[in-house]
Amino acid sequence: MRKTVIAGNWKMNKVLSEADQFMEEITGKITNNDNTEAIVCAPFPFLPSLVEKAKRSNVKVGAQNMHYEEDGAFTGEVSPVMLNDLGVTHVVLGHSERREYFAETDETVNKKTHAAFQHDLIPIVCVGETLEQRENNETMDHVKNQVQKALAGLTNDQVEQTMIAYEPIWAIGTGKTATSDQANEVCSHIRKVIGELTSTDVAENVVIQYGGSVKPANIDELLAKSDIDGALVGGASLEANSFLQLVEAGTK
Ligand code: 13P
Repeated sequence: MRKTVIAGNWKMNKVLSEADQFMEEITGKITNNDNTEAIVCAPFPFLPSLVEKAKRSNVKVGAQNMHYEEDGAFTGEVSPVMLNDLGVTHVVLGHSERREYFAETDETVNKKTHAAFQHDLIPIVCVGETLEQRENNETMDHVKNQVQKALAGLTNDQVEQTMIAYEPIWAIGTGKTATSDQANEVCSHIRKVIGELTSTDVAENVVIQYGGSVKPANIDELLAKSDIDGALVGGASLEANSFLQLVEAGTK
């Protein structure tokens, strides 16, 4: 059975003291549960402190991006070696904000996905369509293309460990959630695409999250769907109480 994964993506928010306080508030409250995983994906400067605070708890700490090279002359970048060395376990790759504002491409996402596995990091690969693509009925083709390109060249075992976050761009930070049926339709499609790339057995084990205006009020309905295995949450992950409610929903 697939586990439910609730990942908070803080984006560029908080200062260190707020990040620490959040982690202190949640660690004691998230209990050991084999079926649910809670991940906090935070800005780079908070990672060492959050990893330290999350030790001996059931909370994992992730980054929101990284370079694909191990080291070198890449001013301002952070490498997978650095993240692994800190004890970070997950990394968000190809978020639509990185694709839109920082020239992330399917090719760099693919390189980063490979680099993540080389350094024991679990990639959370984001895909999703714009409103225009949805209105032009291009959603399925676009998402298929993104998934195929992101996962190209990985072994079946690596694909099985990859998490995919389906985040329709029009639903991010807008308060507009895709309906649970819309979200599930695309998540099922992604599973089918992964099945074609690998095997149906592998695809059945891949965790596929939905992201886009997820909050305590709509999480239950989303998680009740056949192919939605969790959520990648922006705004509603910034406040400890609301994040805890989302994780709690995942344990049901
Ligand atoms: P919101 O939950 O704020 O819509 O953000 C979604 C997102 O982009 C998570 O990565």
